Amino acid sequence: MKLWAGRFAKEADQRVNDFNSSISFDARMYKQDIQGSMAHATMLRETGIITHEDAREIVKGLKGILADLESGALAFDPDAEDIHMFVEAELTARIGDAGKRLHTARSRNDQVALDIRLYLRDQIDEIAALVKQFAATLCDLAEQHVDTVMPGYTHLQRAQPITFGHHLMAYGQMMLRDLDRLQAAKQRMNVMPLGSGALAGTTYPLDRRLTARLLGFDSVSQNSLDGVSDRDFCIDLAAAISTIMMHLSRFSEEVILWCSWEFKFIELDDAFATGSSIMPQKKNPDITELIRGKTGRVYGDLMTLLTMMKGLPLAYNKDMQEDKEAIFDAVDTVKLCLTTVIPMTQTMRVLKENMRLAAAKGFINATDCADYLVKRGLPFRDAYKITGQLVALCMEKSTTLEELPLSQYRQLCGLFDEDVYAAIRLETCVNGRMVEGGPAPAMVEKQISELREKLAAYSQS
Ligand code: ARG
Repeated sequence: MKLWAGRFAKEADQRVNDFNSSISFDARMYKQDIQGSMAHATMLRETGIITHEDAREIVKGLKGILADLESGALAFDPDAEDIHMFVEAELTARIGDAGKRLHTARSRNDQVALDIRLYLRDQIDEIAALVKQFAATLCDLAEQHVDTVMPGYTHLQRAQPITFGHHLMAYGQMMLRDLDRLQAAKQRMNVMPLGSGALAGTTYPLDRRLTARLLGFDSVSQNSLDGVSDRDFCIDLAAAISTIMMHLSRFSEEVILWCSWEFKFIELDDAFATGSSIMPQKKNPDITELIRGKTGRVYGDLMTLLTMMKGLPLAYNKDMQEDKEAIFDAVDTVKLCLTTVIPMTQTMRVLKENMRLAAAKGFINATDCADYLVKRGLPFRDAYKITGQLVALCMEKSTTLEELPLSQYRQLCGLFDEDVYAAIRLETCVNGRMVEGGPAPAMVEKQISELREKLAAYSQS
């Protein structure tokens, strides 16, 4: 029998029941639902809306339900419409009339708005902890490779020399911004909606701020219609998660390239790669391909939420029940991806020699060669042109700037001296890029220590 059976002459059709039911996916909020109900009951007691006796019974009953759900002694009823109905019905079955008083001055509309906030607030902490771990992993690996020269790319063409440490720290910066976005989403989410009722508040003299305090909210929602029908916080979080996934996907794409025979910059640990059922030689970076693939799915979750909301008149509409599967999927997916990418990154083998070899080809020190002439007084445009001619000459002779004889240099420009070879050494090129944010080892070390400090600051907040 439904809790709302009074108005109805018939039981709902089984197909309607199944169609309407959300318990299969909202059951995961049981702890938050119970936590919210305990705070609500406490507030009802403090404001004299229910008796101390009833409140005590309710809180005790809810604690029992929580314990039994966690021990497995109590199972979710798949026929319950949602987690809210399930807990209330179970409470009433256990404690009778007092249980029926719990829902005083509350609607499932403000209840669900509360539960999702409580649930996602906890999830944000878990995601942020993983993002921090990934950032720390990047710092650890980068620290070992502040001197590991590799080609930096634009247009996927070798461009200028950088180090592997510098490259990794670019992802470190992304993770830092991701943490910031998560924290902002959490802050904006941390508003307590109970008291909005079904849509128009309530006539009971609630102490909403007490409920908010009991549940650790910073403030209470300021408009009852908005309180029950706002899902911005789901969209904010889905957007923050989408950006994390986009970052992980870019990293994954690079790992996929680096694993290929064309690059061979890294080798994944056997425990983090997969084989082929037919080609015995294959070692595939499936994990990173899956992360790249799942990114699309998370973008889909964000689109689901945005589209779900765009045509809804105020206030609550049942469409909004669709919020949960989308945001839960985004949360689950990003956690799964981070949990896997961290040990994969920790265990991958970096093939420094191959990075160095790749850096030695492709004339990535050409800019530095031009800069050499600039330092001897030539305008940059002229130096650029001369260096371009030198590169063409090297290509014609199948040689490199490092190996081209000084006589040939001099033929194009008399400003060249023996010290040009030192100036275009890849290590010189990297070490000289001492600009703030640049790839010189000292600057990357600074980046690493500053990022670590910022990560530590996040742990405290
Ligand atoms: N299961 C519902 C949801 O997730 C709870 C709110 C139901 N409210 C209602 N008026 N039917 O949105």
